Amino acid sequence: MRIDVVTIFPDYLAPLDLSLVGKARDSGLLDLRVHDLRDWTTDRHRTVDDTPYGGGAGMVMKPDVWGAALDDITGSEVERPAHLVVPSPAGHLFDQRMAARLADDPWLVFACGRYEGIDARVMADARRRVRVSEVSIGDYVLGGGEAAALVIIEAVTRLLPGVVGNPDSLVEESHGTDGLLEYPVYTKPPSWRGLDVPEVLLSGHHARVARWRRDQALRLTAERRPDLVARLDPDALDGRDREV
Ligand code: ADE
Repeated sequence: MRIDVVTIFPDYLAPLDLSLVGKARDSGLLDLRVHDLRDWTTDRHRTVDDTPYGGGAGMVMKPDVWGAALDDITGSEVERPAHLVVPSPAGHLFDQRMAARLADDPWLVFACGRYEGIDARVMADARRRVRVSEVSIGDYVLGGGEAAALVIIEAVTRLLPGVVGNPDSLVEESHGTDGLLEYPVYTKPPSWRGLDVPEVLLSGHHARVARWRRDQALRLTAERRPDLVARLDPDALDGRDREV
């Protein structure tokens, strides 16, 4: 997969050299390129923003600079269709399902806005040529799209085939396919600071362990995320689930 990120703070994306995403890049599974938007400015001050039409606080990012950057980047390959992702608090809410869909795209281009956002014509114009998705990572306001792009890129990269060593760990996790939060996990020692690992996990009895984990996941989800319980497929629940 190819990912391009356009930002006025390229250094903000430095963590993409590390850990899981860094390894995916090193192994060639991910071709990730970070661009400085100011490289497409034409004035001496390298200006990327201007005052908003209609008045109001803050500044808006200029369409001409963004247009030139996105033309160059998205026009740089003919074979692969680019999907432009614009992080925005006004976007569609990002979740694991969206991460899985984005992981199927061959090429994502992130346009990270700052200030009050990017002139809306940039997205309208890009839609004439490529897919465009405005995406929010949650109901709060960040200083810009960079932190959101980091979140989305990590969630997407770990779903690329070959990136996570044991694909089973992608199935049994919070927001995995069963729609539940993940059960609590433990490792050695069996007793630590007076707290014991639940007996059933030491039993070696696979069916009982599976039932305990499912009960824990159901309880935790009901307590912390009742909205997720309401969305569970009733056909996917068994008789024991209903007792929890
Ligand atoms: N930019 C500012 N806030 C954001 C959010 N919550 N999600 C995505 N991009 C953002």
